Amino acid sequence: MAFHSLHISVFVLFFVFPVSLSIPFIVLHGINDNCGGVQHITDNLASFSGSTGYCVEVGNGTGDSFLKPLGEQTRIVCDKVKQMKELSGGYNLVGLFQGNLVGRGVIEFCDGGPPVKNYISVGGPHAGIATVPTCGSGILCQIIDELLKSEIYSDYIQDHLAPSGYLKFPNDIPNYLKKCKFLPKLNNELPDQKNSTYKERFSSLQNLVLIMFQNDTVLIPKETSWFGYYPDGAFNPVIPPQQTPLYTEDWIGLKALDAAGRVKYISVAGGHLKISTDDMKKHVVPYLASQAPGKQSLEKDDHVGAHNSLNHRATLNSNRKRMDRLESEASTKVVYDGSASFMWPSSVKSFFEELIGVSDDKSLSQP
Ligand SMILES: *[C@@H]1O[C@H](CO)[C@@H](O)[C@H](O)[C@H]1NC(C)=O
Ligand SMILES: *[C@@H]1O[C@H](CO)[C@@H](O)[C@H](O)[C@H]1NC(C)=O
Ligand SMILES: *[C@@H]1O[C@H](CO)[C@@H](O)[C@H](O)[C@H]1NC(C)=O
Repeated sequence: MAFHSLHISVFVLFFVFPVSLSIPFIVLHGINDNCGGVQHITDNLASFSGSTGYCVEVGNGTGDSFLKPLGEQTRIVCDKVKQMKELSGGYNLVGLFQGNLVGRGVIEFCDGGPPVKNYISVGGPHAGIATVPTCGSGILCQIIDELLKSEIYSDYIQDHLAPSGYLKFPNDIPNYLKKCKFLPKLNNELPDQKNSTYKERFSSLQNLVLIMFQNDTVLIPKETSWFGYYPDGAFNPVIPPQQTPLYTEDWIGLKALDAAGRVKYISVAGGHLKISTDDMKKHVVPYLASQAPGKQSLEKDDHVGAHNSLNHRATLNSNRKRMDRLESEASTKVVYDGSASFMWPSSVKSFFEELIGVSDDKSLSQP
């Protein structure tokens, strides 16, 4: 009898509250990182949202995130998401720093891939950045930094250093447009090569959440997280997103999304990628828990209430306890710190030392 009434209540609830099975999400980490490094953030997002999350890796992680050109990184992730059966009904995407360009590449370029519903960009260099990765201190690094600045748009660097795909020096725009192999295409910037498919795909997102860190010193300018950037030819002032040609001429559909009320421009306290649990819950989790933020939690509680079994209660209680604990421990604590993310790992440093024919114990010889 008890079983019978439970059965009916489940039956009724099923029709009264449309059961929206939460859709899975993927996390794409930044440069100089790997899925192990963002495990904590992936787990937290999964436990707060109740959705299943996967970190999708590119090659061997840290090294490849630096050395594989972004076009190739995008193809790798595109192949992976197509193969993941769990994502076939669509998925949400969370990008961290450089992972955002890979993610947007997947949204725009991935033919036959499953649809991305909500896209949450955490510190993404969407309009480019005007600084080279920090090799470190010392004379050798200064030499490498200078060389890189002058060679960034060479084919060799474009093919061997991922960030060269989104370095946009305002004083070298003609070279950027001609030689930079990733961002001009991603942003549909090339006057004679605009592809409306990219715009169509990007503007079909349900929500685009652009999170900028107020004290970001890695993304120069930090407003690039919102698609804001310098004008061609000068390092100031920063043009707000709505006044850039990408927006006014709507090269990728940002304006269309904005007009539909689907773009959230979020500014949070802290340095590069230093996201707090509070901000994560406020600005990221709602888009992972449901396709319509604000409604899901209600439906979900009711849905859960229908399963009146002891086991379920127990799990629920322990989940709640765990959440409470996480909440009190870590509400404003930074859950992820990406401040070192633009420093070269030693493998990358030695790669470039070899490339230009110098090392710490040798004097500079010509490349
Ligand atoms: C990762 O792959 C890159 C080449 O893409 C290589 O240079 C690097 O040594 C590899 N790192 C590890 C830890 O295997
Ligand atoms: C535009 O991009 C789509 C998707 O990658 C591709 O199938 C199509 O051939 C491209 N069109 C042009 C004109 O390059
Ligand atoms: C941001 O930078 C300002 C000025 O340097 C500083 O006063 C403030 O404490 C920083 N805030 C955070 C959250 O890092």
